Amino acid sequence: MSNKYYITTPIYYVNDKPHIGHAYTSVATDFIARFMSLRGYDVRFQTGTDEHGLKIQKAADVKKIEPIELCDQNSQIFRDLTVSLNLSNDDFIRTTEERHIDGASYLWKRLYERDQIYLGEYTGWYSINDETFYNEKDLVKQNDGSFKTITGGPVEWITEKSYFFKLSEWSDKLLNLYKNNPNFISPTSKRNEVIKFVESGLNDLSVSRTSFEWGIKTPTDNNHIMYVWLDALTCYANGINYLNDNDNELKEYWKNVVHIVGKDILRHHAVYWPAFLLAADLELPKKIFAHGWWTNEGKKISKSLGNVIDPIEIINNYGLDQFRYFLLREVPFGNDGDFSKNALVNRINSDLVNDLGNLCQRSLTMIDKKLNSIIPPVNNISKNGDKLVKMYYKTVEQSSTLVEEYKLHDYIKLVWLYINEVNKFFNDSKPWELSESNPKLFSDILGLTSDSIKKIAFLINPIMPETSLKIFNMLALNLDNISFEMEKSISISGNKLNQINHLFSRVQNDN
Ligand code: MSP
Repeated sequence: MSNKYYITTPIYYVNDKPHIGHAYTSVATDFIARFMSLRGYDVRFQTGTDEHGLKIQKAADVKKIEPIELCDQNSQIFRDLTVSLNLSNDDFIRTTEERHIDGASYLWKRLYERDQIYLGEYTGWYSINDETFYNEKDLVKQNDGSFKTITGGPVEWITEKSYFFKLSEWSDKLLNLYKNNPNFISPTSKRNEVIKFVESGLNDLSVSRTSFEWGIKTPTDNNHIMYVWLDALTCYANGINYLNDNDNELKEYWKNVVHIVGKDILRHHAVYWPAFLLAADLELPKKIFAHGWWTNEGKKISKSLGNVIDPIEIINNYGLDQFRYFLLREVPFGNDGDFSKNALVNRINSDLVNDLGNLCQRSLTMIDKKLNSIIPPVNNISKNGDKLVKMYYKTVEQSSTLVEEYKLHDYIKLVWLYINEVNKFFNDSKPWELSESNPKLFSDILGLTSDSIKKIAFLINPIMPETSLKIFNMLALNLDNISFEMEKSISISGNKLNQINHLFSRVQNDN
């Protein structure tokens, strides 16, 4: 079996600046990409920006600039965010790029040729915010008789000429897909919602617009532009040139692709996208995972409430790895979560400063002071020491299942059980009492502790890649592409420690 693994974030709308929601999707996806790479997979990770549609055109109108100008400016901000978040993405795709436009047009043509698209007129509700058509039954009636989406967004009534995709013909095929592949959509609660939605009956989907310009012209009719979701969803395939008839190696990644999305856009990914692909007789992704939403100190995040969280501000105030750790550890992946400064500060001080930072600081300083900075060899010094080594390999073994089930926070919990076992070994062995009285035992304890710290650096790499590299660096290891497999062959015994720096600083809650 090929060991190629392809994972994607949604592409982000460029009408506005990035916020914590974007950062969360990206960091979680990066975690999985890095973890799969640690397991030895040939990983490809794609992110990017979604640049067409009425929402973008309106945002550009407000600024009195051309849409492409707004896209260029804001897409760059999202690209910069990939660096600020230390993402390991291989590609950053923009829907205004030629390779994307070509792919989207290819899909349209295939659907058209297979008689999956017909001309009609759309009359109904539309949300510019979500770029989504709504049935009235899915909206919430307000006291004044108007309608809003369940998240409180406005909708407008539109009537315009439009091409329709025969979505209604695909209900049974979709339901079979969900039934035969129980893991196609996760978590289960979200899968059930999708199944209910499809079971309730699908209408044909309006897939073109005529009332504005900013989009990809449909290749079969110049007067229409593609519905932005049909355009955008093809980005996943376009990053690896899947939507054309040419041979190329990147296409291989399509055999094993996972889409990570927020729960608000699950329907587009788990219903529309597979229906387009089925109708075009193309291969489907392996999985769609929908994560939950963050609130801010218990309140829904919204521009109108003025409580949008800027990820860059958090990174500047608390540190990148601290932020990444918090996002991944605080909330089970798939659940909603609450962002609070208090919770962030507690996590940093207890898990990072106390558990991990102090362990490295105390033990490595001892090697520095008493052993001339030379890392001693690992000897089996006791049953406890043996237990520690076994626990690491057990952790690695269990981690695969946890991450395969997207239990990212359980993975981190497991890693911390190991970290705390190393702490316990170090504390119970009391090396500080032994440097004079029993130098052999002293050296053995520090040998095993530093080797365990090296192992910790492997385990935390997908969560906190920068901290992992800092640890490797202190241990005088120069590693780029790491895997669990190579850990066994990397010995640090005899290495001369580099300068030991604090990994994390204690923080105050300034609220
Ligand atoms: N452009 C579409 C996606 C097209 S994919 C072919 C889009 N973009 S978005 O910029 O609005 O949202 C991107 C991601 O941010 C989504 O996964 C969404 O769920 C996530 N979040 C937006 N606000 C969020 C929170 N408050 N909390 C967590 N994630 C949220 O949708």
